[in-house]
Amino acid sequence: MEEDKLLKHERKLLLREKRYIVEQLFKVKRSEEYEALEEVFDKPTLMTLYGMLRRDVISEIYGAIKAGKESKLFWAKGPRGEDLAVKIYLTITAEFRTGMLMYIEGDPRFSRVRRDRRGLVYQWASKEFRNLKEAYGAGVRVPKPVTVRNNVLVMEFIGRDGVPAPLLREVELRNPARVYKMVVNDVRKLYRKAGLVHGDLSEYNIMYWRGLPYLIDLSQAVPLEHPMSDVFLKRDLANLNRFFRRLGVEVIDEDRLYKWITSGI
Ligand SMILES: Nc1ncnc2c1ncn2[C@@H]1O[C@H](COP(=O)(O)OP(=O)(O)O)[C@@H](O)[C@H]1O
Ligand SMILES: [Mg+2]
Repeated sequence: MEEDKLLKHERKLLLREKRYIVEQLFKVKRSEEYEALEEVFDKPTLMTLYGMLRRDVISEIYGAIKAGKESKLFWAKGPRGEDLAVKIYLTITAEFRTGMLMYIEGDPRFSRVRRDRRGLVYQWASKEFRNLKEAYGAGVRVPKPVTVRNNVLVMEFIGRDGVPAPLLREVELRNPARVYKMVVNDVRKLYRKAGLVHGDLSEYNIMYWRGLPYLIDLSQAVPLEHPMSDVFLKRDLANLNRFFRRLGVEVIDEDRLYKWITSGI
């Protein structure tokens, strides 16, 4: 009985705390809005976001842009009013966990692989951040990474006023051959300068903004040392060629493309 009361009390406290944080972050007033948000976030995620607010990384979070199965994307503002994209990794399915392990285990940058669910999700977020940083540093067109903490990654917002730029598959390209060239050049730069293979490249993970293609979703990108990097690269190239061939582009033969990217011939 006593314990019951205690639990109830604790739960009340937790809810009040969560509500306070959600109000600070999202500036919500209406309780329906609050309840919808409260359902999305667990306490550790709220604390992580709150920490970012306190450290002036973000100043306010607005609505969700996209809600995937494993992650959700939010539009936020930085301290100088700049638009930011906040990618939050949430829970993972057993199937996704198995998939993740394959990408992390062959990656020498992660010598200690975390096995617990939460730890693995944190590692996954930091992996995407590192990949973005390395890609950005190599001059590949990707959203500029800002910071990562636990399961929350903050990066440049591609788009305007909270409206994300369209994906490549959603735009009608006037000159697809030009875009094809830019994308394969970026894949080459990613390989030769950053030493990475995207691993999930397709018209679904390329945004198109102001006439330029941006590679996104680099969580599963692997370094060249990864035992599967060759297989992933070939699959990426096949995906790109399939998409651009359909648009009437005279694509470069996959084998030639592969050689040009890997050996520079
Ligand atoms: N930096 C960004 N700025 C604006 N929108 C973004 C950004 N990154 C991703 N998005 C949007 O969010 C969606 C999901 O992001 P993505 O990284 O591909 O995650 P997922 O793992 O769910 O595929 C993208 O299809 C795109 O529409
Ligand atoms: Mg994606």
